[in-house]
Amino acid sequence: MTDSTAKTIDTLLSEHRTFTPPEEFVAQANVSDPSIYENADADWQGWWASWAEQLQWDQKWDTVLNWNPPYAEWFGGGKLNASVQCLDRHVAAGNGDRVAFYFEGEPGDARALTYSEVLRDVCRIANGLKSLGVEKGDRVAIYMPMVPELAMTLLACSRIGAIFSVVFAGFSPTSLKDRIQDQEAKLVICADACWRRGKILDLKKVVNEAVENCPSVENVVVWRRGGDCVSNAPSSSRDVEWGEVFVKQADECAPVSMDAEDPLFILYTSGTTGKPKGILHTTGGYMTGALATTKLVFDMKPEKDVYWCTADIGWITGHTYIVFGPMANGATQVIYEGAPDFPQQDRFWALIEKYKVSLFYTAPTAIRAFMKWGDEHPAKHDLSSLRLLGSVGEPINPEAWVWYLHHIGGGKCPIVDTWWQTETGSIMITPLPGITTTVPGSATTPFPGVEAKLINEDGSEVVGAGGGYLALTRPWPSMLRGLWRDNKRYEETYWSRFPGKYFAGDGAKRDENDFLWVLGRVDDVMNVSGHRLSTMEIESSLVAHEAVAEAAVVGVAHELKGQAPIGFVILRGGYEASPELEQELRAFVGKEIGGLARPDRITFTPELPKTRSGKIMRRLLRDVAEGKEIGDVTTLADPTVLKGLQAEFVKQG
Ligand code: WTA
Repeated sequence: MTDSTAKTIDTLLSEHRTFTPPEEFVAQANVSDPSIYENADADWQGWWASWAEQLQWDQKWDTVLNWNPPYAEWFGGGKLNASVQCLDRHVAAGNGDRVAFYFEGEPGDARALTYSEVLRDVCRIANGLKSLGVEKGDRVAIYMPMVPELAMTLLACSRIGAIFSVVFAGFSPTSLKDRIQDQEAKLVICADACWRRGKILDLKKVVNEAVENCPSVENVVVWRRGGDCVSNAPSSSRDVEWGEVFVKQADECAPVSMDAEDPLFILYTSGTTGKPKGILHTTGGYMTGALATTKLVFDMKPEKDVYWCTADIGWITGHTYIVFGPMANGATQVIYEGAPDFPQQDRFWALIEKYKVSLFYTAPTAIRAFMKWGDEHPAKHDLSSLRLLGSVGEPINPEAWVWYLHHIGGGKCPIVDTWWQTETGSIMITPLPGITTTVPGSATTPFPGVEAKLINEDGSEVVGAGGGYLALTRPWPSMLRGLWRDNKRYEETYWSRFPGKYFAGDGAKRDENDFLWVLGRVDDVMNVSGHRLSTMEIESSLVAHEAVAEAAVVGVAHELKGQAPIGFVILRGGYEASPELEQELRAFVGKEIGGLARPDRITFTPELPKTRSGKIMRRLLRDVAEGKEIGDVTTLADPTVLKGLQAEFVKQG
């Protein structure tokens, strides 16, 4: 039954070995002259300064960059306010009536908010924050679902100089508590509830549990989403209603003029140890990177585009490419609260049709789910408004890339595969859609002004084609300024492996055309008989087989080879797990990549352990495959998946 699908993907792959931006796209592109790269390289500080100049400064900087590795000061002496970039200057320019957000709740409730309305609401929230005693430099922890009020809360904090820290509203009470305690937040802002797959989730309960042992928290502000349908857990005397403190306030609030290097936010991300790292971003440089990359990578034309980034604001992608980048550019965007498969698996495509979305940014894991759900869902909708597609978060396998181009992009939309990290603040490696002839699976080249190199184990540089550790070798404005109160870990994690160079923790290869292929985290790279193999490469090969919907591969300890690849596979509908199919898949990989890459065994499973942001937790799969005690599972979307997986692994062994 899926033969035709497999053939289609094969045909698409052979038709799209490269993709050249169509003439009509190039003709209207924000940049189409490749000399932008040389010019930016020739004077990279001047290049970034030219972007900073497009922001509205209260006071201009004295120096573009002071670089005392690994500590950077960008635009020192300059003063500005982040919320002004995103709001006031658009209203002042006469664009106050432009829609900032088209919000769609999962149950179908919808509202549109203009830039003037958002500015007014942000000022009210900012005044409310002040009334609760929040001052410049205080930390505010935020635990909210995907609603405009979340974006507005970030902007309101930045307006008064409070440092915000969003915790994805899917994290457990313990994770939330750890983050609140680490930053000693004075205030927590949360929602009572949110909708997910037709059910109301009680967020307030999580917050109540989290703040029990957080003496720094003076108040908890509760925004009401659930209305009557949520049974509120008993509130404490610290609780205050959003409607009381954030709405009944003056419509104006003077923005605080911040130093370029004043902190804007802390965002926690997982590291190699159990303790999350509090990534610190500051104001002027971060805004510069967000403004420039949004405009060039997404070819954004704020006066006519409708942009939709499906990430949650709880992750860096939402910070930079929902709140600060698009809003600094004055974009109109869609914010959707719920699941992509509710009420049906075509919800995203229905939204694109409804709002005439032109720029769409999502993750490979979502794209693979869409592929699995079937081509008929996007086919039901008019997606002709789309003119550019983006991908972020993990390497995108060529099969998913060509499916995305064909079934979503109508074969005509350039795809920007964007590599970056919470730490980098903005996109670092990416095509420019009006310039780059792309190759499915490659994030192509560094953004203008950015320098990326591949480094060998011994610290020497990889010259020409080859593989190595990905490092950024010049400072850039939106780089992290450190880890919250932990300079030692900052220096050790990023700057000690290859002194003077930013070590990204990813492996990558460079092809003959100088294109970069990010292969994944270094800990996902295995060494089989002295050969470096990417788990991703083997996974890509497995999903190229017609029977496979999704695959995860880990390198497990092996007596002779050092490490051996072990696969976990979700089959497409219509295929049955069998020892014959296992042999067939192993042989298939052997044929595609080489005998070395052939998995020693493959376990069929209905589900894979994933984080809430959709990343496969390979560390846990390795534990299963090595028969070890399972490590920390608190970041899993569904911890019960592992039990079933362990049972299958033993049964099929
Ligand atoms: C991975 C998300 C390949 C990479 C913005 C990186 C990618 C980590 C890509 C950062 C991409 C992100 N191709 N890999 N286009 N984008 N990654 O901090 O391993 O959540 O180090 O930031 O995701 O994840 P983070």
